[in-house]
Amino acid sequence: MKLNLKIWRQNGPNDKGRMVDYQIEGVEGDMSFLEMLDLLNENLIAKGEEPVAFDHDCREGICGMCSLYINGEAHGPDRLITTCQLHMRKFKDGDTIYIEPWRANAFPVIKDLVVDRSAFERIQQAGGYISVNTSGRTVDANTIPIPKKDADDAFDSATCIGCGACVATCKNSSAMLFVSAKVAQFARLPQGKVEAARRVQNMIAVMDEEGFGSCTNTGACEVECPKGISLTNIAILNKEFLSAQLK
Ligand code: SF4
Ligand code: FES
Repeated sequence: MKLNLKIWRQNGPNDKGRMVDYQIEGVEGDMSFLEMLDLLNENLIAKGEEPVAFDHDCREGICGMCSLYINGEAHGPDRLITTCQLHMRKFKDGDTIYIEPWRANAFPVIKDLVVDRSAFERIQQAGGYISVNTSGRTVDANTIPIPKKDADDAFDSATCIGCGACVATCKNSSAMLFVSAKVAQFARLPQGKVEAARRVQNMIAVMDEEGFGSCTNTGACEVECPKGISLTNIAILNKEFLSAQLK
């Protein structure tokens, strides 16, 4: 396959940035999208040009690093997969593909297609955990009976990989789907109840400080989320936040 790529190039956080055209040949349908970018970078390096910076780590849909906006969609045209799981068979010979970084004030561009998602880490540090007293008499988590439905629902919320597609897709750059998944995974388990009020208040406070927008229930985040995190999590987040305020 021969493709026309239009890629966002930006030298650093203060550079204005621009779309640059590239032609690439020899792309196979079985290549992943990131392997196609690897091929492009090999060609650029061979010509003495600077390769395109893009984020990746696991390349199997687990780490949430491969944050690319492809033809106007977070993680590209497929559903329930990350960019690294997208295959080039989804495109046709001669196609033009626009490749951009996540666009959100809270995710500033570091270089080319790489954005700074450390705002998510600061939200997590504000409460996305449980504290366990390891006094020597700590009860093993497995000895606490949990209804199967609650365990399954908590697990579903915990599948959020923190990729940021929900923020990139939202017209308000809201981080509500991410924060709700992180709050709901604990809200559904007895171990999460002790710090529930503090957790939700602190995480929402940091979410607001970091400059993420408000949720207006459009639902685009749920559509583009590679892990299928449902809007039900946002309902749980709102309930947890209201109960915390009333305490
Ligand atoms: S909720 Fe979905 S889209 Fe948002 S960070 Fe988690 S996995 Fe990514
Ligand atoms: S590189 Fe890890 S999810 Fe894509």
